[in-house]
Amino acid sequence: MDALLSNDGLLDPIAAVTHPDPYPHYARWRDGPALARAPQRRLWVATRAEVVRRLLSTPALRVRPVTEPVPAALLGRPAGELFGLLIRMNDGPVHDAHRPAIGQALAGLPLPQVRAQALALARAQAGRGSLDDALFELPVQAVAQALGFAAAELPRVAAWVREFVACLSPLAGTDELDRAHRAAESLMASMTRLVADSAPRDASLLQAVQAAVGVQAHSARPLVANLVGLLSQTCDATAGLVGNSLLAWARHGAPAPDRTPATWIEEVARHDAAVQNTRRFVAEDTVLEGQPLRAGDAVLLVLAAAQRDPVLNPAPDRFDPERPARRLLGFGHGPHACPGQALATMLAGAAVQALREHGLDREAVARHTGRYRASVNARVPIWET
Ligand code: HEM
Repeated sequence: MDALLSNDGLLDPIAAVTHPDPYPHYARWRDGPALARAPQRRLWVATRAEVVRRLLSTPALRVRPVTEPVPAALLGRPAGELFGLLIRMNDGPVHDAHRPAIGQALAGLPLPQVRAQALALARAQAGRGSLDDALFELPVQAVAQALGFAAAELPRVAAWVREFVACLSPLAGTDELDRAHRAAESLMASMTRLVADSAPRDASLLQAVQAAVGVQAHSARPLVANLVGLLSQTCDATAGLVGNSLLAWARHGAPAPDRTPATWIEEVARHDAAVQNTRRFVAEDTVLEGQPLRAGDAVLLVLAAAQRDPVLNPAPDRFDPERPARRLLGFGHGPHACPGQALATMLAGAAVQALREHGLDREAVARHTGRYRASVNARVPIWET
């Protein structure tokens, strides 16, 4: 850890993601230049709210380097094909064509109905495995269920999603990459079958996406990939929101499990973001925030720091579920902003409710060791040793 502290003790922004308390460090980064340099990384770093918002909206920055739309480690294999089609991971014409349909379908989802189904599933699952696994299983299985997968398929689908998501991290090793390719293949095959089989269930997420995308594109690979993308986007991010909500419950208390409003979960998402940062890449030589940047330069946008900028949210370090005008950046901003925010908030609420109803011990949650899963962007607490 010491190697990741600069001379004056400032924590590196990647190490910050899994640090027990990165927020005082983020405050110091915010006091620095609009675009700072991370000493040990080849990264520009933006932490101030207005800078992060501007940079997330500028066409000069792309979600991938223009010379490497798919990471070299995935190229030519199943996880690479899937990655290359995801609207989250690219800015091409196929992605631009699918983005509105995904957004429209998620915006039109009947949330109370999906919530009732997710809660029933979470109640049936709560207590079956470890708490650490529940953070992932409950939300991913709920989204698979909302898409229309049969109950018997949910555990298998969730396992593949976790294996695929592992390859999105630069920390993945050879074995993880091999598993991710097999999982990508299985996910694409199962989703293709789900899309091709009979009519989708009424009010399912699949039906909503198909209605939004238009009949001719129903079985096309980009659509199938982006349906898988709904599962992969849910995975680590919502696990983090569930875990950080449990920590907030242990630290600050919470209303009764069945009365926890969405605004309480949103305050967790603001105060202790599940996705701490995202990256952008300079398309061609340019000047941003007064700083000359070279084509290919990487910029780290620290969403978790920007949400705690007092310019965006007054008294930002206070956990205040009653905060009158909460402003979030942890779900992104601009053209790639998360279309799943309301769904994620609801799923995290349902998971926390089911776990608490099942008798999860607040004292045991409070004994969290301060450890988080290894990641360069997701903040997911670990309880088990
Ligand atoms: C707590 C849970 C979640 C968090 C914190 C989160 C956060 C984010 C963020 C920060 C982005 C933008 C990334 C960027 O611009 O670089 C994003 C994009 C996206 N998210 Fe979420 N997300 C969550 C859950 C979900 C769920 C449940 C779904 C859908 C089922 C979803 C679907 C998507 C999709 C499709 C995109 C790509 C949008 C695009 O690039 O056009 N997310 N999410």
